[in-house]
Amino acid sequence: MRELARRQGVSPATVVQAYRALEDARLVEARPRSGYFVAARPQRLPEPELSAPPVASLAVDVSLLGEQVMQLAADPSVISFGAACPSGELFAQERVRRAVSRAAQRHRATLCRYPLGPGNEQLRRAVARHALGLGCQLEARDIVVTNGCLDAISLCLRAVTRPGDVVALESPTYFGFLQILESLHLRALEIPTHPRTGLSLDALQLAFDTQPVKAVLAVPTLSNPLGACMPAAERRRLAQMVAERGIPLIEDVLYNDLAERDELRRAVKAWDTSGHVMICGSFSKTVAPGLRVGWVEGGRWSAEVRRLKAVHSGGQTELVDLAMADLLTQSGHESAWRQLRATIAARVDEARGVIAESFPKGTRVTDPAGGYILWVELPAGLDSVALFRACLAERICIAPGTMFSATGRFDHCIRLGVGGRWDKAQREGLRRVGAIACAMVRSVAGAPSAGADTARWRQAPAAALPAAVSS
Ligand SMILES: Cc1ncc(COP(=O)(O)O)c(C=O)c1O
Repeated sequence: MRELARRQGVSPATVVQAYRALEDARLVEARPRSGYFVAARPQRLPEPELSAPPVASLAVDVSLLGEQVMQLAADPSVISFGAACPSGELFAQERVRRAVSRAAQRHRATLCRYPLGPGNEQLRRAVARHALGLGCQLEARDIVVTNGCLDAISLCLRAVTRPGDVVALESPTYFGFLQILESLHLRALEIPTHPRTGLSLDALQLAFDTQPVKAVLAVPTLSNPLGACMPAAERRRLAQMVAERGIPLIEDVLYNDLAERDELRRAVKAWDTSGHVMICGSFSKTVAPGLRVGWVEGGRWSAEVRRLKAVHSGGQTELVDLAMADLLTQSGHESAWRQLRATIAARVDEARGVIAESFPKGTRVTDPAGGYILWVELPAGLDSVALFRACLAERICIAPGTMFSATGRFDHCIRLGVGGRWDKAQREGLRRVGAIACAMVRSVAGAPSAGADTARWRQAPAAALPAAVSS
């Protein structure tokens, strides 16, 4: 670096910045105590295309399979690609442990008093400061601390919808959203979504014109499972569209801090001048999922969100709020997140390479601008629930595409989370998923029953589902 600084006539700090930019673009990689090296370019597969869900809204029924995949993903005896979460060692575990014990020592009185409904004031101020990094100026008094991001989303949906209402969302979408819609008896209107640029706003506009849409639920940065990021101009347009129609947008910014470029971290809320955007986040993917700290600013529905939080769950555990406030105000968490982004980007590249080498011909895979989720489109006719069962027999867990839509259009897709453990067994496990898929493609070619497992799952409750692997 010194040599380069001398040759270019710039300061060493500039050279460091330049290397970081190259690292963020995945062109070079840093090796501990050795320096920077040109990153290997894995073999590339094409990406999936814009999704094409039906134009009607649908009742939702995906809970059973989702619960099973989540249970398996947490089983240490299973090689798991089922979860969308980094493994423990990628978090600053020691820092978190120290913050929790410091909070317990300094604020022990909080254990024996009821917390306030919207959450601890220090944490709400820390969240407001954090939101500046997302381009949003929020008032601490309008922020409500929640039990993770899902709690925040559920509060927003309760605040702006009634049973039977139609909610527009990405297609495919995070199955947790579908589970919430199912539990609140809401109907899902899936909107065509591009794996790179996210929600099709033209399709959303058409939906506004033709359907009684009561809310939009979207993840504009690193949507789950596609990993799509909306371009800035689209974000602005989305903010304008919901304002013009008076329709609330529930924006999930959970993954924004994992996006590889600053402009992708800027929330749609940053363009919201009318209060129609309700922004929901959490620190489950960047600080510690076990603390269950999320937050919401409900725009013009803030008072209702606050009331619902108090009615449904009272307050949060103040000690945990204080530990999180401490963590967010410590210096160094930004650089820890940078490191996290670089580590998972290298994994994702490697995983895409393994997929290119071992999955069936005709496979497509996403190339997300951050995060650790890959969406794999297998050759048509391959039944993802059957693949899930076959992998489970070898103690490997994947998430079948069936879970991510109420439409049944993704039965030949799978989601792979590669943020978990990443070792030889895991890489081998991924190769095995590819090999099993190849064998299935060969047998599907002659078999009449393709899709039978997904169809059976759709019709049948627990008894027909693959049994969890017992340890
Ligand atoms: C898009 C999205 N929103 C929300 C959640 C849940 O967040 P939390 O664990 O903070 O409730 C997830 C979890 O994977 C997710 O992918």
